[in-house]
Amino acid sequence: MSNIGSYEERAKGFSWSVSENELGYRDGNVINIGWHCTDRICEQGKASKLALVWEGHAGAEKRFTYNDIRLASNTIGAFLRGLGIQAGERVCLFMDKIPELYLGFLGILKIGAIAQPLFSAFGDESLFVRLSDAETSAVVTQKKHALKVRKILDRLPHIKHLIIVDHDGASPLKDREVAFSLEKAAPVEHLDIHPTTAESPSVLHYTSGTTGMPKGVQHVHYSLVSQVLTAKWVLDLRDDDIYWCTADPGWVTGTSYGIIAPFAMGVTQCVMDAGFSAEAWYRFIEKRRITMWYSAPTAIRSLMMAGDKIVGKFDLSSLRHLASVGEPLNSEAVVWSQKVFGKPFYDTYWQTETGCIVISNYPGMEVRPGSMGKPFPGITGTILDPNRNEPYPFHGKIGLVAFRFDWPSRMRTYWNNEEAFRKKFRNGWYITGDRARIDKDGYYWFVGRDDDIINTAGHLVSPFEVESALLEHPAVAESAVVSKPDPLNLEVVKAFINLKPGFTASKDLDLEIMNFVRKKLSPLAMPQEIEFVDSLPKTRSGKIMRRILHAREWGEEIGDTSTIEND
Ligand code: WTA
Repeated sequence: MSNIGSYEERAKGFSWSVSENELGYRDGNVINIGWHCTDRICEQGKASKLALVWEGHAGAEKRFTYNDIRLASNTIGAFLRGLGIQAGERVCLFMDKIPELYLGFLGILKIGAIAQPLFSAFGDESLFVRLSDAETSAVVTQKKHALKVRKILDRLPHIKHLIIVDHDGASPLKDREVAFSLEKAAPVEHLDIHPTTAESPSVLHYTSGTTGMPKGVQHVHYSLVSQVLTAKWVLDLRDDDIYWCTADPGWVTGTSYGIIAPFAMGVTQCVMDAGFSAEAWYRFIEKRRITMWYSAPTAIRSLMMAGDKIVGKFDLSSLRHLASVGEPLNSEAVVWSQKVFGKPFYDTYWQTETGCIVISNYPGMEVRPGSMGKPFPGITGTILDPNRNEPYPFHGKIGLVAFRFDWPSRMRTYWNNEEAFRKKFRNGWYITGDRARIDKDGYYWFVGRDDDIINTAGHLVSPFEVESALLEHPAVAESAVVSKPDPLNLEVVKAFINLKPGFTASKDLDLEIMNFVRKKLSPLAMPQEIEFVDSLPKTRSGKIMRRILHAREWGEEIGDTSTIEND
């Protein structure tokens, strides 16, 4: 029997108080994610239960009980407080998936500061944009990533501290740098938890938009209420689970379901900080006896490509439940997983802005391969007619995926950008930016994005950000960035570039520009293909029409071109 029982039963008369009661939360009380994930679990008698099993490169292993993570997050919190970090200040975590990332996250929340996790693969420009927008006070990082922060530190006056967690003393610390070693620091038994309440800011995740720079999605401590209940009913997390969420906490899945929900439920979770290979992943499941596995379609496609034979080399019988998020999960992947693992991947749909799963397939509910499933109980979703901004009166029409924005973990605003936040609403509906249809039984079927954002391997990339980076290259006069189809990553970045006079297209220049973007932004944002062109299609007002280039890449109808100037 699954945790949710019958979906219909749960949806009837639903109230979030189910979750509030389990968390011991009453309206107006203090609620602090850091405390809920550690101290509370210890108070429930699980101090010696394993919280985190971490595996690094070459099989390195670290194990932490709930008491260990309580002490470690206290210790980091006290250290930050000692540096003068106040509640509400932004502290960035810029690290690989090492234990300090997970424990630092909890420590930051315990002192009421705002955790701002950023992918360690980010280049200096990606980093700069996000740190300057958030006016971040401190960055916690590793030696190998500190270089990128140092490069931009002069342009970041708000940063008071660059905290290096693996400083070995070999090279001297530079301006604003301070060393912190979790292993050497004296454990702090008691930390005064900052009395955050429901609406106190907790996490700031940057996400890509179609226009303008990335936006900081601001979450609050009350998010816990829906993150825990969705983890229970959708991921079917149970007390005796050994859970593996493959996402990096630089991405919202890696925090909502890679830190917050599993720890707040007192579950044991495993983290693997090593590159992808089918062998390594299967070995990890076998060795750790993983029971619940939350992953993403690109990873599943990579496993499919590695073939069925390799699956048979490992004992994967511990697996009880599998789920996926981030991109459309094609029906082939669901059918394949049923064949090789004996169970399907359950698709889940949500966004950085929603903070928790909002549409999904539930254990116990009939899975329709290729469909995202149904809205979570208590969440009102619809397909909006884009012309009327009203839900379609009947099913089957493709329109905008929209929600009544009223559940606990919804974002509260975009950091410093209330206007962009307001623009996400039409007629009282929150517009996701995705298109889908609903079938007669209420299942949602994803169709595609309704904007220019590129979803590559489950990561959103803004064409605007890539175009801005390209413009900084001395050879680039103008550019247009769109997605192109890719068998593994679903979409990859493609750039059309018009060169400045005096530059000629060549293979070398092609590679140079690709690397330029990779270093500035990230490997995912790097164009996989560059096409040099003499001109770009534009509207009469001079705006580049990505739509035309996109349609060409995808072999689609171009549609109305009446406003195009130079075609
Ligand atoms: C896409 C990730 C199809 C979608 C948690 C959404 C999906 C964006 C699915 C959010 C899914 C996420 N099927 N598309 N199951 N899940 N997406 O903010 O376009 O990084 O709007 O949050 O990913 O990406 P984000």
